[in-house]
Amino acid sequence: MKGKLIGVGVGPGDPELLTIKAEKVLQSVDVVCAPRSAPAKPSIALSIVKPSLDKREDVFEVLEPVFPMTEDKESLENHWDQAADMVADHLEQGRDVAFVTLGDPAIFSTFSYLQQRIGDKGFVVDMIPGITSFTGCAASAGIPLVEKDDILVVVPKVDQRLARIMEHGDTFVIMKTSRHSELLKDTIESDNRNKEIISVQNCSMENEEVHAGFTKNKKYLSTTLVKFHK
Ligand SMILES: C[S@@+](CC[C@H](N)C(=O)[O-])C[C@H]1O[C@@H](n2cnc3c(N)ncnc32)[C@H](O)[C@@H]1O
Repeated sequence: MKGKLIGVGVGPGDPELLTIKAEKVLQSVDVVCAPRSAPAKPSIALSIVKPSLDKREDVFEVLEPVFPMTEDKESLENHWDQAADMVADHLEQGRDVAFVTLGDPAIFSTFSYLQQRIGDKGFVVDMIPGITSFTGCAASAGIPLVEKDDILVVVPKVDQRLARIMEHGDTFVIMKTSRHSELLKDTIESDNRNKEIISVQNCSMENEEVHAGFTKNKKYLSTTLVKFHK
C-alpha cells in the first residue's frame, strides 16, 4: 500500500500548543518533513516538534527540503517540485510522511504547494489543523478578535486592496509584518475610527514580545492586530 502525506499544523511556537492528534501522528509516522527557508536556517516548525520527536525510541527519517523566501516564481516552482519528488519517493514505498508547518496548514502555508503536487501524483493527502498564529497572538494580547457581528480581515500584504476594504472590516490581522513598509501605518492611521493596535512577535515562544502600536523591528514571526471600536 502507498503511504499518505499528512499536513500537520504545529501551532505558533509553544510545543504545548500541539494538538493531541498532531502529537499522535508525530509519534508514529515513518518520515517527518520540515520546511527550511535556506540551507543554513533551521526549520522553526521542526524546532516546535522537537520535544515530541525526542520522545521516540524507534527509527524515523527527517527530511528538510528548502522552500526559499523569494519572489522568483521559477525558482520557487523548482524547489516545490523537488520537495514533492522527495516526498513522493517515500510515499511510493508505503511510508507515511508528516509535513510539519507553523500554525495551521490552511493559512499561508508552504504545505499548500506540496499538497497540490502530491495530490496530482495520485497520493492521499490529509490535514491536521493547528492553532493559527493570529488566534495565538490574540491570546497573548489578551483580547477577543471579533465579537457580535464584527468582520475579521486577514491581510498578508499591504497594498491598495487594504485601503479599499478598510471601512468594511472591524478587526484586521496583519501578517508577515516584517515585509510591510510605512504604507501599513499610513493606511491604518488614515481610518479615523478609534482603534487598538497590538503587535506580537514570537507569540507563545520564550522570547515573545507584545507591544501596543506598530513595531519597527523586522522579525519574521510578527503579527499586528488592529481592532476598530464602534
Ligand atoms: C507563512 S505565514 C504562516 C502562517 C501559519 N500557517 C499560521 O497559521 O499562523 C508566516 C506569518 O505568520 C505569522 N506568525 C506565525 N507564527 C507566529 C508567531 N509565533 N508570532 C507572531 N506571528 C506569527 C507572522 O505574521 C508570519 O510572518
